[in-house]
Amino acid sequence: MSFSTDQFRLDGKVAIVTGAGGRGNSIGRAYAMGLANAGAAVVVADINAEGAQRVADEILAAGGKAIAVAVDITSKDSTLAMAQRATEAFGGIDILVNNAALMAELGSLPAAEIPLDEWNRIFNVNLTGALLCSQAVIPAMRARGGGRIVNQVSGGAFPAVSIYGISKLALTGLTTTLARQLGRENIAVNAIAPGNVTSDAGKLLTPDDSPFIKFLEMNVAMRVRGAPDELVGTLLLLCSQAGAWITGQVIHVDGGWVLRP
Ligand SMILES: NC(=O)c1ccc[n+]([C@@H]2O[C@H](COP(=O)([O-])OP(=O)(O)OC[C@H]3O[C@@H](n4cnc5c(N)ncnc54)[C@H](O)[C@@H]3O)[C@@H](O)[C@H]2O)c1
Repeated sequence: MSFSTDQFRLDGKVAIVTGAGGRGNSIGRAYAMGLANAGAAVVVADINAEGAQRVADEILAAGGKAIAVAVDITSKDSTLAMAQRATEAFGGIDILVNNAALMAELGSLPAAEIPLDEWNRIFNVNLTGALLCSQAVIPAMRARGGGRIVNQVSGGAFPAVSIYGISKLALTGLTTTLARQLGRENIAVNAIAPGNVTSDAGKLLTPDDSPFIKFLEMNVAMRVRGAPDELVGTLLLLCSQAGAWITGQVIHVDGGWVLRP
């Protein structure tokens, strides 16, 4: 069969996006709307239940399929309940986007001084949270004969020069490990590494006049900042038949910030 752009469609698929309901303009919201637009039924999952409901309502208003689920990804019970809700509502799970993370709320504590509690708090969400969500959905993916997991990492992990960066580099390790271990079961696991994105959190963390933006202006090949919607095409590739032979990869969507051979 020759290629058709229909291979990007996700009709009949069920997708969970974590961290899709927190701030107004977030990457998770763009991902949830994009997946719904491609035909998937979307579980909008966030620790912020009200925000998740708002995004689910937006999808429904646009004619898509969605439910909101309150989840704390650091709790095994909570992630299992999220997977169960998804299966009850839509009959299975095909796609998990591990997007929830702590980022804008983190200080810039140096590794030499960071208290162990703070270190654990960051890793519990940014790394263990993605593991727990993956463990919760993998049985449902196996039952469907395969699935896709996309982990949201960051250009800030290449190289890691902050605790946040270490957490995203570790999540990259989880990506390649799960990819190797689940590939024969037709479960593909990839990562998206965004550059500086104009989500509400991104603008809060790095305002236009911040030193980091000046640094990027000297180093990024194209535009320094992208909009959340500019990540969606890559997500659809990784979640659809069009990207069926891609696993264990980190796709940088960053205007040419992290240049890799
Ligand atoms: N904005 C950027 O410039 C940028 C760049 C690179 C990577 N990222 C990554 O993209 C993702 C989304 O970023 P964003 O800018 O939309 O930020 P955001 O803060 O709007 O999104 C993070 C979401 O995670 C949720 N969350 C936090 N802890 C949770 C928990 N324990 N359980 C469930 N949900 C929880 C928050 O409520 C929030 O909705 C994050 O993984 C972030 O690290 C962002």
